[in-house]
Amino acid sequence: MAARWRVAVTRRIPEAGLVILREAEAAGEIELRIWPEELPPAPPELAELLHGCAGAITLVTDAIEPELLDREPQLNVISNFAVGYDNVDVPAATARGVAVCNTPDVLTETTADFAFALLMAAARRIVEGADYVRAGQWRTWGPTLLLGRDLHGATLGIAGFGRIGREVAKRARGFAMTVLAFDTHEDQAAAHDLGVRFVPLDDLLRAADFVTLHVALTPETHHLIGTRELRLMKREAILVNAARGPVVDTDALVAALRDGVIGGAALDVTDPEPLPPNHPLLALPNAIVVPHIASASVATRDKMATTAARNLLAVLRGVQPPHIVNPEALRRV
Ligand code: GLV
Repeated sequence: MAARWRVAVTRRIPEAGLVILREAEAAGEIELRIWPEELPPAPPELAELLHGCAGAITLVTDAIEPELLDREPQLNVISNFAVGYDNVDVPAATARGVAVCNTPDVLTETTADFAFALLMAAARRIVEGADYVRAGQWRTWGPTLLLGRDLHGATLGIAGFGRIGREVAKRARGFAMTVLAFDTHEDQAAAHDLGVRFVPLDDLLRAADFVTLHVALTPETHHLIGTRELRLMKREAILVNAARGPVVDTDALVAALRDGVIGGAALDVTDPEPLPPNHPLLALPNAIVVPHIASASVATRDKMATTAARNLLAVLRGVQPPHIVNPEALRRV
């Protein structure tokens, strides 16, 4: 008997999620197609993979555009394996009755841990130190060798005080930091509980020793940090980005790091992504770049996979999914 729904998964997600999908497959509910390569499908391959599908588990590397949705009117659900969903044209999906789901909550603390790790690595020059040792340059203990910046007692500016930003603030409290936050929506109760003060973005940039970005990528936050903003920052300040690459104007950041406008940057995300190996950011000693791994703990990626699988099956089965970005689309399913 033919399965009720075809489902595509655009990369091999952790087994914890695949197990759930395979159970549905064994029950005759779905027929699974999993993109087997390490690299994402190119747009024509993605279109082919999704052809005839009622649902898909997609990644941040898959652009879900209106044209693709138009070609597949039977598509009911795009279940993104991420909390961010800027890779999906949500208004276009909603207009076509396609539910868009994501995986919030399960990655909040893991991502906050990682943003803090980036902050510490940049402040205390851990990557430079490891490179120094590996290069055979370590000849003695040096009184002025690789001096960094103290986190304790410093001021941290958090741009984006949502789930992840608030978890970063919790960690900063443990380091006796003064924490300032900027958000277009000011959750005063959360700020009060965490001893955080909301300020306008310019004030945050002027006052912070460290700035960490936790906004979603939207037209409003595209290039939130550009030349003007970088110039407002302290000369020794360090910028951390574990949100989305295009929140920062990359060319402006390269110039600021090269010219000593700010002290350093630690980036989990970049624009473009991936960075080509000859990109100027990679030649700067005061920049740390890692490959978009803030949520990449074993436990969290398992939880993201199970959430994405459950979201997808719930929409197909006509029940409320655990996490949906555009609930208004459900009414049309
Ligand atoms: C990863 O970047 C995510 O949005 O979960």
